[in-house]
Amino acid sequence: MKIFIDTADIEEIKTAISWGIVDGITTNPTLIKKALQKYRDRISSMEDYIKEILRIAGRLRPVSLEVISTDREKMVKEATILYEKFNYIANNVVVKIPINPNLGEGNDFDGIMAVRELKSAGIPVNVTLVMTPEQALLAAKAGAEYVSPFVGRVDDFLRTKVGMEFKKEDYFPSDGMEYDDEVINDNGIVSGVHMLSIIKEIFENYRFSTKIIAASVRNARQVREILEVGCDIATIPFYVLKDMIKHVKTEEGMINFVRDVENEYKEIFWKG
Ligand code: E4P
Repeated sequence: MKIFIDTADIEEIKTAISWGIVDGITTNPTLIKKALQKYRDRISSMEDYIKEILRIAGRLRPVSLEVISTDREKMVKEATILYEKFNYIANNVVVKIPINPNLGEGNDFDGIMAVRELKSAGIPVNVTLVMTPEQALLAAKAGAEYVSPFVGRVDDFLRTKVGMEFKKEDYFPSDGMEYDDEVINDNGIVSGVHMLSIIKEIFENYRFSTKIIAASVRNARQVREILEVGCDIATIPFYVLKDMIKHVKTEEGMINFVRDVENEYKEIFWKG
C-alpha cells in the first residue's frame, strides 16, 4: 500500500518525505488555507507556494490539487489551467474534482462530466468527497485515475446518526455491528472502513483500474484496518503518521535498553 501525506504544510511534507515513507501528497482548499495562514509571512504568492510543494514532492510523488469552481465548465477550465501552469515542474499534478459539486442550483453530475472531459484531455483526476460505493462507481465509470472515499467523515456522519459527538481521539468500531445498520445509514454502510471494502470489491468485480485512496483518516488503528481491506493508497495526516510509530512499551523498552547499557556493560561492549 502506498502512503500519501494529507497536508499542504510544507514543513510537514518535507519532514515526512525525509522519513522515506511518503509516496504522494493530497491537498484540499481547507489544507491550503491552513498552510497559507501558518506561513503568511514567508509566502510571496500562492503560485510559488504550490510550485515549491511540487518541487519537493518530485517526479515520483503525485500531488493532488483541488479545483474551487463548482460547475462543469469552470471546473474543467480551472483544472486545465492548474495542470498547464504547474505540471511542467515535476510532472506530478493530479487534479481533484468533487464527486458532486452542486451547491443547490447546479447539476449533480457536473463533477462526473468534468472527470470525463479531463480524462479525454489526458489530465489525471482524483475524485474527492466520496461517501458511498455508488459515488465511487460513478467516478470510476467516468475515468477517474483515483477515487478518495472519506473514511473519517463517513464515521462522523454515522456518529451523528446515533447521537454521538465526534472527538478526534474516539475510535468508531469499523464492524459497527453493535448498531442496527438500517438505523445508522440507509445505504447499509456501517463504517467508513466498511465503505472502503465494498468499493474495493466492486472495483475488483468489474475490473476498474481506478485506484482507491482511503482519505479522511483519523487515527493509527484506522490505518491498520485500511491495510486489512487492501486499499491501494491511504492518505494520512501528519499527526497520524507520527502516532503510527509510537507505543508505550517501545518507549519503555528503549529506556530500559539504554539504562542497562549505561549501567552494566558500556565500557566492555564498546571498548572490547
Ligand atoms: C482527501 O484527500 C482530503 O484531503 C482529506 O482526507 C479530508 O480529510 P478530513 O475529513 O480530515 O478533512
